[in-house]
Formats: sequence, structure tokens, C-alpha cells
Amino acid sequence: MNKSLLGASLISLALAAPLAYAHEAGDILVRAGAITVNPKADSSSVKVDQGPLKGADLGGKATMSSDTQLGLNFAYMFSSHWGIELLAASPFEHDVKLKGTALGAANGKLGTLKHLPPTLSVVYYPLDGKSAFQPYVGAGINYTWIYDEHVGSQAQANGFSNFKAKNSWGMAFQVGADYMITDKIMLNAQVRYIDIDTQATVENNAVAPGTRAKVNVDVDPFIYMVGLGYKF
Ligand code: NI
Repeated sequence: MNKSLLGASLISLALAAPLAYAHEAGDILVRAGAITVNPKADSSSVKVDQGPLKGADLGGKATMSSDTQLGLNFAYMFSSHWGIELLAASPFEHDVKLKGTALGAANGKLGTLKHLPPTLSVVYYPLDGKSAFQPYVGAGINYTWIYDEHVGSQAQANGFSNFKAKNSWGMAFQVGADYMITDKIMLNAQVRYIDIDTQATVENNAVAPGTRAKVNVDVDPFIYMVGLGYKF
């Protein structure tokens, strides 16, 4: 298909929207796509909370890398405007780094962690049935399960061990849009903000026996997903 033909058929696709494109009560929407978790990762300074140096403030902060995985949405419409939606994904993995602490050996990559952030939201579609373009907003609750924390090899060589991060409950907000290509198949794009807060701890017996440091991290990521969906 050449470009002008493709353009013409996309335009006719967009104009030919007389069908019942909007979601209706009882519809089940399943979407899959690429999902990116981009942590804001503001953190407290790193403090020693156990051992002979207890109370020492090492300064600095923790940061986290972003990661992209397979994202899945399962939505059930209980009216043409309102639905409930579950976000699922394959496990995310992030590098955790410490920056600017008073303990030079602590700076750099501390390690990695994995997490799953299932999120249950109520979604609202404001438009009526004539539009193939169906934007929506949503709000809900997130549980982030953090697991498989590992100290990196360099940090391990510097005496760090037993890296742990706590799970998190928080609010989640989203905006998105479905574009109905047919009455069953949709393109989707969405952005979420999720309040994920964790407390990470790591031990270091090389600095002084029994030393443990902790840092409170506002992971608070923006989460982006683009994908395809199917309406059952
Ligand atoms: Ni937060």
C-alpha cells in the first residue's frame, strides 16, 4: 500500500465511526504492550540505624534506573462510562545506586531489585458511543511487591550485604486513551503516577561489625504503556 492510499484509508477509518465503538456494560477489555516504569526516586539521606555508628547521617541519596517490561490490563466495564481495571506486568528490575554519601565506598551501584506493582483502578470514560477515540481517567490502589534484592559485585567487594527493601501500598492515578481500530481492536496509550514508598536497608560489617544503613525512598514513578487491546 503506498503512502497516499494508507493515508486515505486511515482517514476513512477515522471518519467511518458510526458503530458502537464506545465500551458498554459487560465489556471485557484486555490490553498488552510495552510498559516503562521510570522512578522519580527522591530519597532521604543514608543513615546508620544499627551498629556502633548508629545515628550517623552519611548524607547522599538513593536513585533507581528505569525499566521496560510487558504490561497487561484487564478491564471490566460495569456501565458505558465506568469500569474497573487491573494492571499487571512481567517483573521489573531496577539498579539501585547511592550518590554523594560521606562513605566513599558506598557510592555507586548498590545492587538490584525486582518488583511487581499490581494496581486496581476505577476508570471513567467521559465520551459517548459515537467516538472511536475514547480517553479515560482512573484512580486506584497499588501494591508493590519488592523481591530478589541483590547487592552488586562491587558493593559486595566493599563489604555490603543483606540488601532489603520493603513492599508498598499507595494510591495510583492514570490517564489514557483507547482508539478503536475496529469495534473489537484498539490502540491504547496511558500514563500513570503511582505513590510507591519503600525503606531500604543494607548491612556492612567491613565499616564496623553489625553496621546497617537505611534510606527512605519515594520511588513515585511515572509509568508509560502503549499497546494493543481487544474487547470481548
Ligand atoms: Ni511517595
